[in-house]
Amino acid sequence: MIKVIGVIGSGAMGTGIAQVIATAGLEVYIYDSNPVAINVAKDNFKESLEKLVTKNKITAEDASAIESKIIFQSNFKSLDACDLIIEAIVEDLQIKKQVFAELEKIVRKDCVLATNTSSLSIASIAAACQFPERVIGLHFFNPATIMPLVEIVPAIQTAADTILDASSFINFIGKTAVVCKDTPGFIVNRIARPYYGEAIRIMEENIADIATIDWAMKEFGGFKMGPFELMDFIGHDVNYRVTEIVWAQFFYDNKFKPSIAQKRLFEANRFGRKSGIGFYDYREGAATLTPNKDQVLGEYIFTRIISLLINEAIDALYFQIASKDDIELAMLKGVNYPKGLLHWAEELGFGSILENLEELSFEYGDERYRPSVLLKQMVRENRRFFN
Ligand SMILES: NC(=O)c1ccc[n+]([C@@H]2O[C@H](COP(=O)([O-])OP(=O)(O)OC[C@H]3O[C@@H](n4cnc5c(N)ncnc54)[C@H](O)[C@@H]3O)[C@@H](O)[C@H]2O)c1
Repeated sequence: MIKVIGVIGSGAMGTGIAQVIATAGLEVYIYDSNPVAINVAKDNFKESLEKLVTKNKITAEDASAIESKIIFQSNFKSLDACDLIIEAIVEDLQIKKQVFAELEKIVRKDCVLATNTSSLSIASIAAACQFPERVIGLHFFNPATIMPLVEIVPAIQTAADTILDASSFINFIGKTAVVCKDTPGFIVNRIARPYYGEAIRIMEENIADIATIDWAMKEFGGFKMGPFELMDFIGHDVNYRVTEIVWAQFFYDNKFKPSIAQKRLFEANRFGRKSGIGFYDYREGAATLTPNKDQVLGEYIFTRIISLLINEAIDALYFQIASKDDIELAMLKGVNYPKGLLHWAEELGFGSILENLEELSFEYGDERYRPSVLLKQMVRENRRFFN
C-alpha cells in the first residue's frame, strides 16, 4: 500500500503532482537539488491554494490541511521512507539515470520508482537500476492539478505488481489512468502529432493561413483550440522538441517528420504566448488575423487533419500501444479532444478515411499518408470497433 510519496524536482510538473497527492490526503516529500527552485515551489503552492480558497473551490481549513501534507526537503536522503517516488526533473537521460541509481541506495527494496518523462524510454531509465522491475512511467499532463489523465507506462523490465501498485495509487489520487506500451510519445504525444504537423504542412503549402486552419478545426471538428493556437499555448520549445524526439525515436519515420516553419520559430525563441510571439503575434498593437470562412476550404482542412489523426489512433491500436478504450480516454482526458478518434472513425466511415489517405498518398507520394494496416482490414472486412 502506497502511503508516503516522494517527488523529485519542484518545477512545473513536480509541484503540480505534489499538490494533487497532498489534496488526496497523502503525505508527500518534495525534493529539489536547487534551493531556489524549492523556494519558488513553496510560493507557488501558497498562491495556488489561496486561489482555490478565493474561488470557493476549497475551504481555508482544506488549504492548511493540504499544505501540512507537503514536506519540502533539501536533503536527498530524507526520501528513504517513501513507498513511491515520482521523478520530475530535467528531461536528460544521463541525469535521470544517475538519480535513479542514487535513489536505489537509499530506499527500501519494495519502493516503486516512477518517472514522469515525456519522451525518454522507461526501459532506458530502468536499466540504471539494480531492481528495474520496480521502475515505471507515470506520465502526468501539464498542469497536473487540472489535467485528469496519467499514462501508466511499464517498461519491459517492470513487474506486474509494480503496475498494480501504480494503478491503484493513480486511482486513489483521483486521476484517470490509461496503460500503454513503452513506445515513443506513449499514447497522447504520438496520436496528436498530425494535429500540429499536418496543420503546419497545409500552411507551408499555402493552402490556407493559420487563422483559417484554426477556424476550420474548431468549426468542423469542435476542437477547443485550433492547432496554431494550441502550439503557441504549449510553447514551441516544448512542442517542437517533442515532435523532433518522437520522429527520431521512430527511426525517422516520415509520418512524424517535424516542419521547418516550427523549427525556425523554436530557433528564433518565438515560443508562442509565453514569449509574446509564435505563429501569432500577441504583442500590443499587433494585427488580428481574420480567417477565410470558405466552407469548402474549411472542410478540406478538417478532413485532411482528422483523417491523419484517426489513422494514427488506429495504427496505435494495431501495434497494441493501448486498448481501444484507453486510446479513446487518453485523447479525451489528456488533450481535451471533443470525441475519441476511434468513435470518430466509425462516425465518418472507415472507407472514407481510407479514401482520403489514399488520395493524399497518390498526390504527394509521401510516406506520411500511408494508411494503417488495421484501417485497411476494417474496410475490407466491414468491421467496427464498437457496437
Ligand atoms: N512541462 C510539461 O509540460 C511536462 C508534461 C509532462 C511531463 N513532463 C516531464 O516532467 C519532467 C519535469 O518537467 P518540468 O516541466 O516540471 O521541468 P522544470 O524545469 O519546470 O523542473 C525541473 C526541476 O528539476 C530540478 N532538478 C534538475 N536536476 C535535478 C536533480 N538531479 N535532482 C533534483 N532536482 C533536479 C530543477 O531544479 C527544476 O526545479 C520532465 O521529465 C518533463 O519531460 C513535462
